[in-house]
Amino acid sequence: MIDFKEIFIKQISDMTSKEIQVNDIRRVIEIPKNSEHGDLAFPCFILAKTMKMPPAIIAKELAKQLAHPLIEKTEAVGPYLNIFFAKKSGSAHIVNSVLETGEQYGCSTTGKGKTIVVDFSSPNIAKPFSMGHLRSAVIGQALANIAEKQGYQTVRINHIGDWGTQFGKLLTAYKKWGDFDKVKESPIEELFKLYVQFHEEAKDHPELDDEARLWFKKLENGDEEAAELWSWFRADSLKEFERIYRLLNIHFDSYNGEAFYNDKMETVVNRLQQEQLLTMSDGAEVVTLPEEELPPYLIKKSDGATLYATRDLAAAIYRKETYAFDQALYIVGQEQTVHFKQIKAVLKRLHLDWYEKVTHIPFGLYLKDGKKMSTRQGRIILLEDVLNEAIQQASANIEAKNPSLENKEKIAQSVGIGAILFHDLKNDRMNNIEFSLKDMLTFEGETGPYLQYTHARACSLLRKTGALPLSEAGLENAYAWETAKLLQQYPNKVKQAYNQLSPSTIAKHLIDVAQAFNKYYGNVRILEKDNELQERLALVKAVMIVLADGMKLLGMDAPEEM
Ligand code: ARG
Repeated sequence: MIDFKEIFIKQISDMTSKEIQVNDIRRVIEIPKNSEHGDLAFPCFILAKTMKMPPAIIAKELAKQLAHPLIEKTEAVGPYLNIFFAKKSGSAHIVNSVLETGEQYGCSTTGKGKTIVVDFSSPNIAKPFSMGHLRSAVIGQALANIAEKQGYQTVRINHIGDWGTQFGKLLTAYKKWGDFDKVKESPIEELFKLYVQFHEEAKDHPELDDEARLWFKKLENGDEEAAELWSWFRADSLKEFERIYRLLNIHFDSYNGEAFYNDKMETVVNRLQQEQLLTMSDGAEVVTLPEEELPPYLIKKSDGATLYATRDLAAAIYRKETYAFDQALYIVGQEQTVHFKQIKAVLKRLHLDWYEKVTHIPFGLYLKDGKKMSTRQGRIILLEDVLNEAIQQASANIEAKNPSLENKEKIAQSVGIGAILFHDLKNDRMNNIEFSLKDMLTFEGETGPYLQYTHARACSLLRKTGALPLSEAGLENAYAWETAKLLQQYPNKVKQAYNQLSPSTIAKHLIDVAQAFNKYYGNVRILEKDNELQERLALVKAVMIVLADGMKLLGMDAPEEM
């Protein structure tokens, strides 16, 4: 696709005898919010010095000289040169590029041959799947999709929290108070109860902690009973998590969690030793990080047990060696910011120059009535309930509006889940989000269902006209033009979303596209049988392609009917 902006950036540079470079122009040229000021606006201040003229005169000069088949007119307004494109040929060009490339529209080869590792969701087994793990899942999936659209290969890793001293506690509690049938029935709920009970009882009976240490030792040493229980807890917890992932349409390439690194830590610890990085602190082995003003990184506890931190270090090195990644992204809550700074600092001390490629991607919290929303004891099912509630409400909407729809159940799921995904992703990543099912599920406003509905509307128009060939001639209509311009910006928005690791860039752009298209729909009789019908349908098809693709990047379904 020709980028119109680039054509004129080059032209302006040529016209000024290349005294200002294309890069300088690209930096200042604007796409006006209000199209009365043109499709592009160039503030001429940066020319004043070299051309020795006031910017307003320069604007007038350039307005006279600039000519191109894609330009309808130019205007000098004060220091601004405003450029208006020819709508018909412009929209023809845009719509055709979208139709020609189809699903590939917006793809780029930037990442060709490079691999990005994305660590996301990563819940702890035998514990509730928190809202934080949900956010991480949703953002991680979108970022991985966007990276693939940019040509990168991705490895999606669920770094399950399935190892550590807490399993000693869990085994102790299960042996003392556990009930096989109850754990079979609802594993996470029961196991979490046992875990909480352990902490309660250990307050008065500190000997329980010694027992827990022993059980964890047994587990580490491969004791049969310990290993068997652990495998069971892990497998059944994963089953529950997978139900959630299935609902959300999220998949992983690897479930290598903390336990996977059990036999990979020794080499790392040895390396730290060789480099003389380990110091003793209260019996524990740590790496001190005074230069970075970070707290010491704990490698081994005084009883010799390794930690989350040790495993993460081994994981980073393993991933580099296994996947030769270009970037390793960790979508993890902001409370772990220091942890990731520490990992990088330790990798740096090990002379692993790729430490800079380790990138922590934090995010804001879910709030309920302004307070942190958390899944507490006994409310473990909450998250799954929320997802099901969204699906149910979507289903009620369908019953009210379109009861004869085929595949109602499937579509209700797409809409309910799409609502939750979009509600999350339209927010800037670091912002906190007020959780409101009601807001998420409306068909009006900036919601997932609004996008899906707009897409279904486009599909329905195309269905009604059947096999009518689309035309390449373009449209003069101003609403059509506003829509086409947004379609042209899509590839850049995808690129921007990747560079800024911000799916919301795409989410917001899709809303703009949908609003522009709905205005067009409201002002023009698209199906009128006149001589521009096929041009209008071509635009409809292009809108459909971009909306569907953008939603796919965000992890949403785009049903053709709803
Ligand atoms: N399981 C951790 C938690 O729930 C998140 C793990 C994130 N990934 C990582 N490689 N540290 O807090």
